[in-house]
Amino acid sequence: MRTPIIAGNWKMFKTVSEATAFFVDVKGKAEVSGVEAVICAPFTTLPALVEAAQGTSIAIGAQNLHFEDNGAFTGEISGVMLKDLGVKYVIIGHSERRAYFAETDEIVNKKVQAAFKHGLTPIVCVGEKLEEREAEQTKSVCQVQTEAAFAGLSAAQAAEVVVAYEPIWAIGTGKSSTAADAEDVIAFIRDVIAGLYDAATANAVRIQYGGSVKPNNVSEYLGQSNIDGALVGGASLEPASFIALVEGAK
Ligand code: G3P
Repeated sequence: MRTPIIAGNWKMFKTVSEATAFFVDVKGKAEVSGVEAVICAPFTTLPALVEAAQGTSIAIGAQNLHFEDNGAFTGEISGVMLKDLGVKYVIIGHSERRAYFAETDEIVNKKVQAAFKHGLTPIVCVGEKLEEREAEQTKSVCQVQTEAAFAGLSAAQAAEVVVAYEPIWAIGTGKSSTAADAEDVIAFIRDVIAGLYDAATANAVRIQYGGSVKPNNVSEYLGQSNIDGALVGGASLEPASFIALVEGAK
Protein backbone atom coordinates (compact mmCIF):
# COMPACT_ATOMS: atom_id res chain seq x y z
CA MET A 1 0.00 0.00 0.00
CA ARG A 2 1.15 3.52 -0.77
CA THR A 3 1.54 5.89 2.18
CA PRO A 4 -0.38 9.12 1.57
CA ILE A 5 1.88 12.16 1.31
CA ILE A 6 0.84 15.74 1.97
CA ALA A 7 3.50 18.22 0.89
CA GLY A 8 3.31 21.93 1.49
CA ASN A 9 4.97 24.02 -1.19
CA TRP A 10 5.63 27.34 0.49
CA LYS A 11 6.91 28.92 -2.74
CA MET A 12 8.58 32.29 -1.98
CA PHE A 13 6.99 32.80 1.42
CA LYS A 14 8.35 32.89 4.99
CA THR A 15 11.47 34.18 6.65
CA VAL A 16 13.53 31.98 8.98
CA SER A 17 11.68 33.23 12.05
CA GLU A 18 8.29 32.71 10.40
CA ALA A 19 9.27 29.20 9.31
CA THR A 20 10.49 28.32 12.79
CA ALA A 21 7.32 29.67 14.41
CA PHE A 22 5.22 27.64 11.95
CA PHE A 23 7.10 24.49 12.89
CA VAL A 24 6.58 25.04 16.62
CA ASP A 25 2.84 25.21 15.93
CA VAL A 26 2.59 22.10 13.75
CA LYS A 27 5.02 19.87 15.64
CA GLY A 28 3.15 16.90 17.07
CA LYS A 29 -0.12 17.97 15.43
CA ALA A 30 0.85 17.44 11.78
CA GLU A 31 2.36 14.10 12.73
CA VAL A 32 -0.43 11.73 11.91
CA SER A 33 0.12 8.00 11.83
CA GLY A 34 -0.14 6.61 8.31
CA VAL A 35 0.36 9.96 6.57
CA GLU A 36 3.66 11.46 5.51
CA ALA A 37 3.87 15.23 5.98
CA VAL A 38 6.46 17.25 4.08
CA ILE A 39 7.28 20.95 4.05
CA CYS A 40 9.04 22.24 0.93
CA ALA A 41 10.43 25.58 1.98
CA PRO A 42 12.66 28.37 0.64
CA PHE A 43 16.38 27.57 0.67
CA THR A 44 17.13 30.15 3.36
CA THR A 45 14.82 28.46 5.86
CA LEU A 46 16.00 24.88 5.26
CA PRO A 47 18.79 24.66 7.89
CA ALA A 48 16.47 25.88 10.65
CA LEU A 49 13.62 23.64 9.53
CA VAL A 50 15.80 20.53 9.24
CA GLU A 51 17.01 21.15 12.77
CA ALA A 52 13.50 21.79 14.08
CA ALA A 53 12.24 18.62 12.37
CA GLN A 54 14.76 16.35 14.03
CA GLY A 55 13.00 13.68 16.05
CA THR A 56 9.67 14.39 14.34
CA SER A 57 8.04 12.54 11.44
CA ILE A 58 7.78 15.70 9.32
CA ALA A 59 10.16 15.69 6.36
CA ILE A 60 11.72 18.80 4.89
CA GLY A 61 12.07 19.44 1.18
CA ALA A 62 13.51 22.04 -1.17
CA GLN A 63 11.67 23.54 -4.13
CA ASN A 64 14.42 23.27 -6.72
CA LEU A 65 18.02 22.21 -7.29
CA HIS A 66 20.64 22.61 -9.99
CA PHE A 67 21.54 19.44 -11.84
CA GLU A 68 25.31 19.98 -11.61
CA ASP A 69 27.04 19.17 -8.32
CA ASN A 70 29.01 22.42 -8.23
CA GLY A 71 30.53 24.97 -10.59
CA ALA A 72 30.14 28.48 -11.94
CA PHE A 73 26.34 28.72 -11.66
CA THR A 74 25.76 31.95 -9.80
CA GLY A 75 22.78 31.83 -7.50
CA GLU A 76 22.14 28.11 -7.82
CA ILE A 77 21.95 25.35 -5.17
CA SER A 78 22.98 21.76 -5.89
CA GLY A 79 21.90 18.33 -4.71
CA VAL A 80 25.21 18.02 -2.86
CA MET A 81 24.30 21.08 -0.82
CA LEU A 82 20.75 19.94 -0.11
CA LYS A 83 21.91 16.49 0.96
CA ASP A 84 24.49 18.12 3.21
CA LEU A 85 21.70 20.03 4.94
CA GLY A 86 19.66 16.89 5.60
CA VAL A 87 16.86 17.70 3.21
CA LYS A 88 14.84 14.66 2.09
CA TYR A 89 12.62 15.83 -0.78
CA VAL A 90 12.98 18.23 -3.67
CA ILE A 91 10.23 19.58 -5.91
CA ILE A 92 11.27 19.44 -9.56
CA GLY A 93 9.62 20.93 -12.63
CA HIS A 94 6.94 22.97 -10.89
CA SER A 95 4.93 24.81 -13.54
CA GLU A 96 6.13 28.14 -12.14
CA ARG A 97 9.73 27.06 -12.78
CA ARG A 98 8.82 25.79 -16.23
CA ALA A 99 7.05 29.08 -17.02
CA TYR A 100 9.29 31.70 -15.38
CA PHE A 101 12.68 30.00 -15.35
CA ALA A 102 12.58 28.21 -18.70
CA GLU A 103 12.77 24.70 -17.30
CA THR A 104 12.37 22.24 -20.13
CA ASP A 105 11.51 18.54 -19.91
CA GLU A 106 15.19 17.81 -20.52
CA ILE A 107 16.28 20.00 -17.59
CA VAL A 108 13.61 18.42 -15.40
CA ASN A 109 15.03 14.98 -16.22
CA LYS A 110 18.58 16.09 -15.42
CA LYS A 111 17.35 17.42 -12.08
CA VAL A 112 15.53 14.17 -11.32
CA GLN A 113 18.74 12.26 -12.03
CA ALA A 114 20.70 14.68 -9.85
CA ALA A 115 18.22 14.18 -7.00
CA PHE A 116 18.73 10.42 -7.11
CA LYS A 117 22.48 10.81 -7.36
CA HIS A 118 22.39 12.58 -4.00
CA GLY A 119 19.78 10.47 -2.25
CA LEU A 120 16.99 13.05 -2.48
CA THR A 121 13.44 12.04 -3.36
CA PRO A 122 12.03 14.05 -6.26
CA ILE A 123 8.48 15.37 -6.30
CA VAL A 124 8.06 15.82 -10.04
CA CYS A 125 5.34 18.18 -11.22
CA VAL A 126 3.41 17.65 -14.44
CA GLY A 127 0.26 19.30 -15.70
CA GLU A 128 -1.47 21.08 -18.51
CA LYS A 129 -2.19 24.74 -19.22
CA LEU A 130 -5.78 25.93 -19.59
CA GLU A 131 -5.54 26.12 -23.38
CA GLU A 132 -4.15 22.61 -23.52
CA ARG A 133 -7.03 21.36 -21.43
CA GLU A 134 -9.51 23.12 -23.68
CA ALA A 135 -7.83 21.52 -26.70
CA GLU A 136 -8.20 18.13 -24.99
CA GLN A 137 -4.44 17.72 -24.75
CA THR A 138 -4.33 17.13 -20.98
CA LYS A 139 -3.30 13.49 -21.24
CA SER A 140 -0.83 13.92 -24.08
CA VAL A 141 0.88 16.79 -22.22
CA CYS A 142 1.09 14.73 -19.02
CA GLN A 143 2.40 11.74 -20.95
CA VAL A 144 5.20 13.72 -22.60
CA GLN A 145 6.20 15.36 -19.30
CA THR A 146 6.06 12.08 -17.37
CA GLU A 147 8.05 10.10 -19.92
CA ALA A 148 10.68 12.82 -20.09
CA ALA A 149 10.97 13.06 -16.30
CA PHE A 150 11.46 9.30 -15.88
CA ALA A 151 13.94 8.89 -18.74
CA GLY A 152 17.01 6.90 -17.69
CA LEU A 153 15.66 5.92 -14.24
CA SER A 154 15.83 2.30 -13.11
CA ALA A 155 12.59 0.66 -12.00
CA ALA A 156 13.80 0.87 -8.40
CA GLN A 157 14.35 4.62 -8.74
CA ALA A 158 11.07 5.11 -10.59
CA ALA A 159 9.17 3.46 -7.75
CA GLU A 160 10.54 6.10 -5.36
CA VAL A 161 9.48 9.12 -7.42
CA VAL A 162 6.55 11.18 -6.20
CA VAL A 163 4.60 12.69 -9.10
CA ALA A 164 2.43 15.76 -8.54
CA TYR A 165 -0.27 16.27 -11.14
CA GLU A 166 -0.95 20.01 -11.04
CA PRO A 167 -3.24 21.37 -13.74
CA ILE A 168 -1.84 24.88 -14.17
CA TRP A 169 -5.26 26.54 -14.40
CA ALA A 170 -6.04 25.21 -10.91
CA ILE A 171 -2.95 26.62 -9.17
CA GLY A 172 -3.71 29.46 -6.79
CA THR A 173 -6.97 30.17 -8.59
CA GLY A 174 -9.48 28.52 -6.25
CA LYS A 175 -10.65 26.58 -9.34
CA SER A 176 -9.73 23.04 -8.40
CA SER A 177 -10.08 20.05 -10.68
CA THR A 178 -12.95 17.79 -9.65
CA ALA A 179 -11.76 14.74 -7.77
CA ALA A 180 -13.10 12.54 -10.58
CA ASP A 181 -11.20 14.48 -13.27
CA ALA A 182 -8.00 14.43 -11.21
CA GLU A 183 -8.41 10.69 -10.65
CA ASP A 184 -8.88 10.13 -14.38
CA VAL A 185 -5.65 11.96 -15.28
CA ILE A 186 -3.70 10.44 -12.40
CA ALA A 187 -4.81 6.90 -13.34
CA PHE A 188 -3.61 7.71 -16.86
CA ILE A 189 -0.22 8.89 -15.54
CA ARG A 190 0.07 5.62 -13.63
CA ASP A 191 -0.64 3.74 -16.88
CA VAL A 192 2.09 5.75 -18.60
CA ILE A 193 4.55 4.68 -15.88
CA ALA A 194 3.38 1.07 -16.22
CA GLY A 195 4.12 1.33 -19.94
CA LEU A 196 7.64 2.55 -19.19
CA TYR A 197 8.31 -0.14 -16.55
CA ASP A 198 5.66 -2.59 -15.33
CA ALA A 199 2.49 -2.63 -13.26
CA ALA A 200 4.29 -3.32 -9.97
CA THR A 201 6.55 -0.28 -10.42
CA ALA A 202 3.64 1.95 -11.44
CA ASN A 203 1.62 0.76 -8.44
CA ALA A 204 4.45 1.75 -6.11
CA VAL A 205 4.68 5.35 -7.38
CA ARG A 206 2.86 7.90 -5.27
CA ILE A 207 0.95 10.44 -7.32
CA GLN A 208 -0.39 13.62 -5.74
CA TYR A 209 -2.94 16.10 -6.95
CA GLY A 210 -2.12 19.79 -6.64
CA GLY A 211 -4.12 22.92 -7.41
CA SER A 212 -6.31 24.76 -4.90
CA VAL A 213 -6.33 21.89 -2.42
CA LYS A 214 -7.83 23.05 0.88
CA PRO A 215 -8.72 21.37 4.18
CA ASN A 216 -12.32 21.12 2.98
CA ASN A 217 -11.60 19.23 -0.24
CA VAL A 218 -8.45 17.21 0.54
CA SER A 219 -10.35 14.09 1.66
CA GLU A 220 -12.28 14.03 -1.58
CA TYR A 221 -9.04 13.74 -3.56
CA LEU A 222 -7.49 11.24 -1.18
CA GLY A 223 -10.64 9.14 -1.43
CA GLN A 224 -9.82 8.36 -5.08
CA SER A 225 -8.00 5.10 -5.59
CA ASN A 226 -5.08 6.51 -7.59
CA ILE A 227 -4.57 9.77 -5.69
CA ASP A 228 -1.98 9.33 -2.96
CA GLY A 229 -1.70 12.82 -1.59
CA ALA A 230 -1.59 16.50 -2.36
CA LEU A 231 0.97 19.16 -3.15
CA VAL A 232 -0.43 22.29 -1.58
CA GLY A 233 0.53 25.93 -1.96
CA GLY A 234 -1.61 28.58 -0.28
CA ALA A 235 -3.34 26.31 2.22
CA SER A 236 -0.01 24.97 3.52
CA LEU A 237 1.12 28.35 4.84
CA GLU A 238 -0.98 28.51 8.00
CA PRO A 239 -0.29 25.97 10.75
CA ALA A 240 -3.96 25.14 11.43
CA SER A 241 -4.64 24.64 7.76
CA PHE A 242 -1.55 22.46 7.24
CA ILE A 243 -2.53 20.31 10.23
CA ALA A 244 -6.06 19.96 8.82
CA LEU A 245 -4.65 18.91 5.43
CA VAL A 246 -2.56 16.17 7.01
CA GLU A 247 -5.51 15.07 9.17
CA GLY A 248 -7.70 15.04 6.08
CA ALA A 249 -5.38 12.56 4.37
CA LYS A 250 -5.94 9.85 7.00
O1 G3P B 1 2.76 23.27 -5.77
C1 G3P B 1 1.53 23.57 -5.21
C2 G3P B 1 0.79 24.54 -6.00
O2 G3P B 1 1.26 24.90 -7.21
C3 G3P B 1 -0.67 24.62 -5.81
O3 G3P B 1 -0.85 25.87 -5.26
O4 G3P B 1 -1.97 27.54 -3.91
O5 G3P B 1 -3.26 26.24 -5.63
O6 G3P B 1 -2.49 25.12 -3.56
P1 G3P B 1 -2.24 26.22 -4.54
